[in-house]
Amino acid sequence: MASIDRERLGILLERERTSHLRRTPSSRAAFEAADHLFGRVPMTWMNKWSGGYPLYLAGAHGNRITDIDGNEYIDFALGDTAAMAGHSPKATVDAVTERIGGAGGITTMMPCTDAEWVAAELTRRFGLPLWSYSLTATDANRWALRIARMVTGRPKVMAFSYCYHGSVDETFVITGPDGDGDATHRGGNVGPAVPISQTTRVAEFNDIASVEAGLAHGDVAVLIMEPALTNIGIVLPEPGFLEAVRELCTKYGTLLLIDETHTISAGPGGCTAAWDLKPDIFVIGKSIGGGIPCGAYGVSEEVAAGVRANSEADLVDVGGVGGTLAGNVLSTAAMRATLGEVLTDEAFAHMITLATEFREGVEATLTAYDVPWSIAQLGARAEYRFVSPAPTNGTQSARAHDDELEEFLHLFMSNRGVLMTPFHNMALMCPETQRTDVVLHTRLFEAAVSELMTG
Ligand SMILES: Cc1ncc(COP(=O)(O)O)c(C=O)c1O
Repeated sequence: MASIDRERLGILLERERTSHLRRTPSSRAAFEAADHLFGRVPMTWMNKWSGGYPLYLAGAHGNRITDIDGNEYIDFALGDTAAMAGHSPKATVDAVTERIGGAGGITTMMPCTDAEWVAAELTRRFGLPLWSYSLTATDANRWALRIARMVTGRPKVMAFSYCYHGSVDETFVITGPDGDGDATHRGGNVGPAVPISQTTRVAEFNDIASVEAGLAHGDVAVLIMEPALTNIGIVLPEPGFLEAVRELCTKYGTLLLIDETHTISAGPGGCTAAWDLKPDIFVIGKSIGGGIPCGAYGVSEEVAAGVRANSEADLVDVGGVGGTLAGNVLSTAAMRATLGEVLTDEAFAHMITLATEFREGVEATLTAYDVPWSIAQLGARAEYRFVSPAPTNGTQSARAHDDELEEFLHLFMSNRGVLMTPFHNMALMCPETQRTDVVLHTRLFEAAVSELMTG
């Protein structure tokens, strides 16, 4: 296979950085003037944009974003899945506008009937019978882990190396230098409360022996997982892996928590419906509110009964689960409209067809230029990785990371009007994405690879 000429890559990257500076002076000036923001951005991860500063938003509709310099982009980042329904989908905007300005009452301490509608729809899609809301998937995960510990009476959580489930202390884990089962903090963790080996057992994705070795200790309350890793590139499950995980959780009395915040890209019912998974606890957030803050966790009847049977469980007052604004009527109105009218079965069919074309376009270029990379698709999302064959676990995928290459490709695309997800090489389709958008990406990807490989 061909290899990358690093000197050529350096020259091309400099050219793209210069072009980025020329095209986005207002974004740069806004960034340099942000003296009162920690890291100069509203949330520190926004510094992850390629080119030294983030693009500043002017507006966004459907799959188009405009920055404050007036550049328009086809958006394949889609808010890292939070905007999978497209930017400001009409049904969601109408519902929240009515709630804010028509009916009124954004936060009142009172439920409204949308909450039951949404819960019934989540049951229809994902199977779990009972639901509760949060404002983020992170919080839904945090609260679900607490419930799992209470129900099982066990202290530990199991998570996969290089997983991401939001800023949840127990899940910021990798396999350490001592190999199998050595739970070590992932680099860069900010102020962990306790050493992660006290809270977490680690396993490798697609390695059923590592799962069994951890669960066999008998102290794991819950195994939290995405059915395919999506935050260290897409790592798909190998045949039989998810079934074996389910069997082992049952065998060792560990609850299985499936987090489909990103993997809902697989279809209207996520991987859970597509692959007939049987979680005890289910978490989702981001996309189901069309970008309005929301999150939800669902529990089985058995898990709910376990909480109810525990006289110590204070779910009503200050027992460590919940938040004043969680499940507010703005979130529930947004989720009802988005699930009911935007992220429909037809929308998914369209999005998955386009993601398939996106993947095929990338594959054609990789083959034509003999490039040692791979691309994985999960329904409406696809992502390339700088390694071939595709990695089968998080540790392998992390090793394939290449900052320079990633920056070059991101800038090559954004300088020509296409946005990829800043943390990845991920592209997600939304209901408004068109075939012509995918064709443009295919053409640009081929042009970038051609410059890299042939000069
Ligand atoms: C699988 C998964 N779970 C949870 C989260 C956290 O979502 P939020 O940042 O909305 O809390 C993320 C965020 O990327 C995620 O990818």
